[in-house]
Amino acid sequence: MPEINESNTVTNNAPAATSATTTTTTTTTATTPAGSAGQAIAHESAAKHVSGEAVYVDDMMAPTGTLHAYVGLSTVAHAVVSSMSLAAVKNAEGVVDVITRDDIPGIVDIGSVFPGDPLMVGIGDTVEFHGQVLFALAATSYAAARRAARLAKIEYTALPAHLTIEEGLAAESFVRPAHYQSRGNAQEGLRTADQRLQGELQIGGQEQMYLEGQASLCVPEEDGGMLVYSSTQNPTEGQKLVAEVLKVDLHKVTVDTRRMGGAFGGKETHANQWACLAAILARRTRRAVKLRLARGDDMRATGKRHHFLSRYDVGFDNEGQIQALDLMLAGGCGMSPDLSDAIVDRAMFHSDNAYYLPQVAIAGHRVKTNTVSNTAFRGFGGPQGMVAIEDVIDAIARSTGRDPLDVRKSNLYSAEGGRDVTHYGQTIEQHVLPMLMERLEETSDYRARRESIRTFNASNSVLKKGIALTPVKFGISFTVQHLNQAGALLHVYTDGSVQLNHGGTEMGQGLYTKVAQVVAQELQIDISNIRCTATRTDKVPNTSPTAASSGSDINGMAALDAARTLRQRLIAFACEHFSVAEDAVVFSPNQVSVGEQAFTFAEFVNLAYRQRISLSATGFYRTPKIHYDRETASGRPFYYFANGAAVSEVVVDTLTGEYRVERVDICHDVGNSLNPAIDIGQIEGGFIQGMGWLTSEELAWDTSGRLTTVGPATYKIPAIGDTPPIFNVELLPDSPNAEATIFRSKAVGEPPLMLAISVWSALRDAISSMADYRVHPKLDTPATPERVLMACESLRSRSS
Ligand code: MTE
Ligand code: HPA
Ligand code: MOS
Repeated sequence: MPEINESNTVTNNAPAATSATTTTTTTTTATTPAGSAGQAIAHESAAKHVSGEAVYVDDMMAPTGTLHAYVGLSTVAHAVVSSMSLAAVKNAEGVVDVITRDDIPGIVDIGSVFPGDPLMVGIGDTVEFHGQVLFALAATSYAAARRAARLAKIEYTALPAHLTIEEGLAAESFVRPAHYQSRGNAQEGLRTADQRLQGELQIGGQEQMYLEGQASLCVPEEDGGMLVYSSTQNPTEGQKLVAEVLKVDLHKVTVDTRRMGGAFGGKETHANQWACLAAILARRTRRAVKLRLARGDDMRATGKRHHFLSRYDVGFDNEGQIQALDLMLAGGCGMSPDLSDAIVDRAMFHSDNAYYLPQVAIAGHRVKTNTVSNTAFRGFGGPQGMVAIEDVIDAIARSTGRDPLDVRKSNLYSAEGGRDVTHYGQTIEQHVLPMLMERLEETSDYRARRESIRTFNASNSVLKKGIALTPVKFGISFTVQHLNQAGALLHVYTDGSVQLNHGGTEMGQGLYTKVAQVVAQELQIDISNIRCTATRTDKVPNTSPTAASSGSDINGMAALDAARTLRQRLIAFACEHFSVAEDAVVFSPNQVSVGEQAFTFAEFVNLAYRQRISLSATGFYRTPKIHYDRETASGRPFYYFANGAAVSEVVVDTLTGEYRVERVDICHDVGNSLNPAIDIGQIEGGFIQGMGWLTSEELAWDTSGRLTTVGPATYKIPAIGDTPPIFNVELLPDSPNAEATIFRSKAVGEPPLMLAISVWSALRDAISSMADYRVHPKLDTPATPERVLMACESLRSRSS
């Protein structure tokens, strides 16, 4: 991928055979700059992350007199607020200001796409979940603010609350209308199918559990301006909403986001509220105000991954090839629409996972419940859709007696036989999975291990092993078309150092590193010369959230565009200044040569500066080819697909339900990797996070709608000890993106999470061995030891 310029040095012009054996050449020049695209360099903040020097919002040097804000949350799930007595709050030590709904200068509803998310719920308004903000205050210390927030007396008139998807469905309570996708006649296909099965699955939600909680610091500026430091994936939306609640123009508000300590979708829209509240308090007090939620309140008051209920009716032939599918997906959205329309859509788009569904009808419901509004979480509904279909595939395998891997392979999309169009009309153009799965089957030694597991299970009555190989095909692009755009800003200074800025935010995924690598590549300079500065709405405006795994795709392209503009401008300058043709100007690592003359990059740009050439450029990108018509439920919503597959092996204690993941092998398709080290990190982290979702992370509410899992003691994310002892991760080699993405790479942020479906499938494989692999155990997620034990018990009672 990196260009090699052959015109500069003797070494480069030497025949390959000679240069390989000759070590005596005098001038050697690297063929690529240090840290350019494709190199496995460390994350730009890796050292700072581990030393504690990385600055998060709460670590920033705040202005003198900064106040600390906190919020008062509702303690009922559904009720009208009949009175609020805030006298004790106002009189508490250290309290400087208290605000309620009536103190909001501008808009009250901060719903990002649709209305439904009040910034604060006032007297006479309806509380829609336990943990909703009723008031906010600013005090002289964080401790004083939190103490005061507990002193309010609130009276409610209770209303009946729906807490579960079933209750919401029964009451036909929805946050948005249903959406349907279909092909052919599913009902007719079911009637004529060789075999037919029905089933139902509960798919659990998930807390994002970013290490850094929600945090904002607002600093008032002159003329009614507001500078907002916010831990957000979406600085532009933060800017817009802060401006709208303050009732000022967008140009008065600047949002600055250097980094987040993790976001995972939880800061796509759910960072806005805290920035807005801090901004109102800052405006009123004319002091800087910081609002940082404590962990428990963060977990109560901000949205999670949607839990889902799926119901299917599937018809298939005796080999297990699907003939028809009728699928109902009901997403538990909580109390407001937020991003749920797009999330349930993405679940529907991924309910084929990697499989061709000849005749199909999919219904996607957006169920309203009196719980916190659920929001983006890595995969954005895709994982839930995939879990639903993978359950169907496993059920088919048990029913036909075939190895689930063979059923999976025979249902894959393929270039042959017209089996390459999705149920929403997008043609699969790059068929990566058949080959990738074949490769993984071999490298993981799947068949031999399947046999030894059968032998093990036959001779062990308590411990049972299971194995599963599951694929992932994940659509890349925002399904909301206009979000697929990005901008960048590049400044070259006269010492040759470069400042880069783009619309994407850094949440640990390595975006700043990757985009800097792109610029290093294009300008042919070492990455140490490039500094990516904090994402800011006054540097690159009107940006999209960093989400949908598209960060490096779109911001990388925008930065490339800016760098190309600069490079072209410099070439044009050199042509004129030195009276040479374009091809006489050559960029090689850290050097620009013009004919016989060679300059360092710094010398060259300084020369350009002295000739009054602008050394600053903007860049822009919009993703081509994408569209989706919701009326006809068809189109090409995704620019391309990222692919991968994983084999997981587990051992289950069928008397206790406890289990261990013993070995995981992954092969994942990132196209031409922009940075293999970062990509492997994303794959490992995504897999483990997905494993947590499907195994140990269980959200629980009591009957009043109060979340009871509000910290790491009650909500169990994977610990380092849960890492599989054998964990092999391979990037699929020689698989450039067929589309012209940034250096033919593929997005990697979300897709690996869904590789963890193999763990859940392997657990059911192990349990199923108790009934000679002929019974498909129902195993809702998360598959906690309790649920695994119940599944074991149901098979034990069946076989005895
Ligand atoms: N990796 C880390 N370390 N922290 C995060 O918060 N978020 C994930 C993924 N990987 C996340 C992460 C999610 S939900 C998305 S959409 C992508 O990163 C966003 O970044 P990208 O588009 O630049 O890959
Ligand atoms: N993914 C993530 N975030 C989004 C999307 C999407 O497809 N659409 C709108 N926000
Ligand atoms: Mo990621 S869920 O698209 O922020």
